[in-house]
Amino acid sequence: MTKVESKANKGADFAKEHALVMESSYATPSITIVRGKGCYLEDADGKRYLDFLSGIATNALGAAHPDLIDAVTTQMRKVSHLSNFYGNPESLKLARELQRMIGDDEARIFFSNSGAEANEAAIKISRLTGRTRLVATLGSFHGRTIGALSLTGQEKKQKPFRPLLKDVKFVPYGDLEAITRAITKRTAMVLVEPIQGENGVIVPPPGYLKGIEERCAETGTLFALDAIQTGIGRCGSWFGWEEKLAPDLVMVAKGIGGGLPLAATIIRGRSPHFAPGEHGSTFGGNPVAAAAANQVLKTIREKKLMERALMMGSLIKSSIGKIDGVVEVRGRGLLLGIVLERPIAKEVVADLSKLGVLANSTSEQVIRIAPPLILGKREVDSFTRAFSKSMNALRDSK
Ligand SMILES: Cc1ncc(COP(=O)(O)O)c(C=O)c1O
Repeated sequence: MTKVESKANKGADFAKEHALVMESSYATPSITIVRGKGCYLEDADGKRYLDFLSGIATNALGAAHPDLIDAVTTQMRKVSHLSNFYGNPESLKLARELQRMIGDDEARIFFSNSGAEANEAAIKISRLTGRTRLVATLGSFHGRTIGALSLTGQEKKQKPFRPLLKDVKFVPYGDLEAITRAITKRTAMVLVEPIQGENGVIVPPPGYLKGIEERCAETGTLFALDAIQTGIGRCGSWFGWEEKLAPDLVMVAKGIGGGLPLAATIIRGRSPHFAPGEHGSTFGGNPVAAAAANQVLKTIREKKLMERALMMGSLIKSSIGKIDGVVEVRGRGLLLGIVLERPIAKEVVADLSKLGVLANSTSEQVIRIAPPLILGKREVDSFTRAFSKSMNALRDSK
């Protein structure tokens, strides 16, 4: 067997195993990634891909960033896990960092491991207000645990798991009047994404988030922002909103760990917080994940990656926006939704993958891209060329 043949067999073998491991909860992947460097990934057969998805807005520094590897291995050599019986300097440093980012040195931080858990903590906190009613938006995505799913405004995802939490009112996203009406003095918490990510990168109209904040102040409701997909510099700011806001609860996950599982619920303002024993997580604030997060935040600051996200985002908007068959490129920074004229998003994504570019479709007409924040002009040019080629190839389909 030649070297090439043995490599090709590797990919096929993995593909068989995916069916065993993942089939019941995920679509079976056709690609198995074995390594990566920066904005590029390599599959089991040695094929290279330009990564315009970064683990769905997660690998902020791309793959195998040397400083991240150093931070993680240095911490591993010291101690890899404790428990919440003991403090560790990395998670304390990270908590201070998050306070600085939100601009409130009184903010409390609850660490967990995933976006759903960060939202779950917020839902439990909302119960400490003595109220139980919640408001969320249609089309939202907040996670798959029962609490987070109860606030996820998607019928298809909720239906098989009912009954979910009662007392959740859903309103159309971006409609300030509707959400204002829904929030009353009996509402415990309203949970909103600064930009709806899973729903195809929907940016709300200016003044929407501020308007919700004002209504929450009038009614004594907790204003909670799910910055899990928009946060950690992806949209050109720490959390993904542009205006000056003072939310009571902010959730981050995905990008913060640079690929390691870490999430945080930032608790401030009017929000009550947990008393000892009311909530917890074995791995939350794990020193290795916290060391990774501290490095991610340091690199974003030092390398000015938020500015880069905005710059590269506008470059993509203008280059992709000119391609025939593209109606609009929406979003901010490096969280973008490419809206197509025709329902060929899945075909375009499949064709891009053949051309060695990874992206994903959130619906028949929208392709979502969320590349690493270290993206350069060279990668934007390669993406534009591949995208244009796919659109041309698929011009006459459907
Ligand atoms: C806005 C938002 N909230 C919550 C989640 C859930 O995060 P996780 O998959 O880490 O539980 C996601 C994941 O895509 C998300 O985009």
